[in-house]
Amino acid sequence: MRVFLSQDAASLALGAGRIGHMLSDEATRRGIVLDLVRTGSRGLFWLEPLVEIETPEGRIAYGPLSPADIPSLFEAGFLQGAPHARRIGRMEEHSYLARQRRLTFARCGIVDPLSLQDYRAHDGFKALECALRLAPAAVVDEVRESGLRGRGGAGFPTAIKWDTVLHRDAGQKYVVCNADEGDSGTFADRMLMEGDPFCLIEGMLIAGLAVGATKGFIYIRSEYLHAFRVMSRAIEIATEAGYLGPSVLGSGRSFELETRLGAGAYICGEETSLLESLEGKRGVVRAKPPVPAIEGLFGKPTVVNNALSFAVIPWILAHGAKAYADYGMGRSRGTMPVQLAGNVRQGGLIELGFGVTLRELVYDFGGGTMTGRSVKAVQVGGPLGAYFPESMLDLPFDYETLAAAKGMLGHGGIVVFDDTVDLAQQARFAFEFCAAESCGKCTPCRIGAVRGVEVLDRIIAGVERERNFALLDDLCQLMTDASLCAMGGLTPVPVRSGLAHFPDDFDKAPPLRAAAE
Ligand code: NAI
Ligand code: SF4
Repeated sequence: MRVFLSQDAASLALGAGRIGHMLSDEATRRGIVLDLVRTGSRGLFWLEPLVEIETPEGRIAYGPLSPADIPSLFEAGFLQGAPHARRIGRMEEHSYLARQRRLTFARCGIVDPLSLQDYRAHDGFKALECALRLAPAAVVDEVRESGLRGRGGAGFPTAIKWDTVLHRDAGQKYVVCNADEGDSGTFADRMLMEGDPFCLIEGMLIAGLAVGATKGFIYIRSEYLHAFRVMSRAIEIATEAGYLGPSVLGSGRSFELETRLGAGAYICGEETSLLESLEGKRGVVRAKPPVPAIEGLFGKPTVVNNALSFAVIPWILAHGAKAYADYGMGRSRGTMPVQLAGNVRQGGLIELGFGVTLRELVYDFGGGTMTGRSVKAVQVGGPLGAYFPESMLDLPFDYETLAAAKGMLGHGGIVVFDDTVDLAQQARFAFEFCAAESCGKCTPCRIGAVRGVEVLDRIIAGVERERNFALLDDLCQLMTDASLCAMGGLTPVPVRSGLAHFPDDFDKAPPLRAAAE
């Protein structure tokens, strides 16, 4: 009798660990042998803890469960999929999942994350076999045709980066996975690593074969201890099985992989500070050029991609570039795993083709705010993303549209706020966050962020408002133009969007230059 229960960190935080123990204890008490499979999460967190039972009709789900539900579940015969107040039915038919296009997250919440057998049974490593048959340049061409752009936030074409590394003449090349997922409201990298680690391994392996790199590192943020453990164990298993090592599947081509844990700095999600940190140094941003594809880890050509960029590669190679490019809109091809969080009733992971509107995401999937109050703002793209008002929720979710609206898609995080939020305080928070997380290398960010907090404090207190608004305007422009990296350069985005769309919160702020342009 197979019973599936997530051990994703978010599911555990919601009580999945206790539910697992109670299910086992109750089964033992009743003389039932349970085969409890601990999976990753399907990403419908408001339904967790969620248990699924393997029945002849498919997996039948029950949730959200509390300890008090366990005896009645057994009494009702839930192991046969019987009716119960918590019975959801087949998860695939749940409208939250049925409307999605799960390509990157196809296996997450379904497979046992550390079972190679399960991974292979769900099409795992088929793409690797395909990549081993192709010439490296043909693999890069396939990625190019898919239209894949970096899912970390910048949306740079993945194939251009890979092509650059492929054509560098170097004895050693590296592949580095950026899993230092620091954006507020994002959790897709973590879910993927905890729920389908072999998928990331396969994607990185294919990247290594494509560009001629023999060594890879997965840099995981310090808060992600569960992901770190699962990833590290998955690497050991894949190595023992011959997928990683001196001769990948006996091909004579070598690829090794290691995990590294960060030390809690947001800036180490910026690729060059990440590389510094990997080299054992303090996480300080390097000036670009040269980009890491030319001079990266230990000065060698390095592919640095986000975990989601690597994780979708197996799907692209297995199903063909065209099948992937058929999803999406404009120059944003394929699917994006959107992460819905904040004050929202049905937060979770939604993977869909680009082009879905913010309104569909926030209302149709999210069900509006958790508090039941009206939505006042959504912040898209992390702490340095823009705040959009309710009236702009019809914007489609794609790189170009959000950029044209003076925002950014970032890593796909959406944080919802109800009408109690004060955008002047949120703007202040943007500067405060930047001041705390700045690496300190350049003056506009190191000093500018601190001055930003002071200026906003004076505006909020009503002190010399006209003069301070002018100062804030100058400061935002300076940080945008002169910061060395996106940290300082993007901090004005949430500030300016707050001023442009919510002037009442600043007591009728005059529009700043760029916000009004
Ligand atoms: P960028 O535009 O400087 O670079 C994008 C990527 O393309 C980099 O990997 C860069 O090395 C590569 N690249 C650029 N030109 C190239 C060339 N000619 N050849 C080969 N490779 C080339 O952007 P950056 O600073 O790396 O990222 C900024 C973005 O990061 C922001 O837009 C933000 O959305 C995102 N971000 C994501 C976070 C997360 O938690 N995932 C956290 C904070 C920011
Ligand atoms: Fe460091 Fe900030 Fe300058 Fe980036 S913008 S290099 S984080 S000081």
